Amino acid sequence: MRLAPVLLAGALTLAGCGKSETPAEAPATGAPAVETAAVEPTAAMGEQVFRRCVACHTVDKGGANGIGPNLHGVVGRAVASHSGFSYSGAMKARGGVWTEAALDTYLKAPMKDVPGTRMAFAGVIDDADRKALILYLESQK
Ligand code: HEC
Repeated sequence: MRLAPVLLAGALTLAGCGKSETPAEAPATGAPAVETAAVEPTAAMGEQVFRRCVACHTVDKGGANGIGPNLHGVVGRAVASHSGFSYSGAMKARGGVWTEAALDTYLKAPMKDVPGTRMAFAGVIDDADRKALILYLESQK
């Protein structure tokens, strides 16, 4: 191993330096916890969250169905009711109305809420993001 002496020499040089300075005072570890100000979710924030959906959904009035149905006015709309979109059997069987609460549950874990849904999307995990997103959807009608 030809490198060893070189490394050893280096180590000795460093060790021999010996001018170890008194360690600087340890940084305070007990810094006060930063209060994360509770930012109230808004529709404007939700518009940013909706970027995760635009690969598959439009939300404008009369917007085209894509991989997923157009979501204009989806809050308060009957599940699987948008004309011209071919829903999965699972979504059609779900029934009900997209209330805020229903959307919250669905968008948190789509494939858990509607097993067999064709919406291949893991979900919006963050509660505040979901709230903002639903506010945004609600504003699109
Ligand atoms: C990979 C594509 C894809 C993404 C991304 C996606 N969706 Fe979907 N979405 C679908 C499909 C496909 C359906 C229809 C599901 C079915 O029929 O089982 C659907 C259905 C829905 C429905 C039910 C609509 C109805 O008319 O009953 C809602 C609400 C919805 N999506 C919201 C969202 C939101 C909000 C996001 C973003 C956070 C999102 N989706 C992201 C593909 C997607």
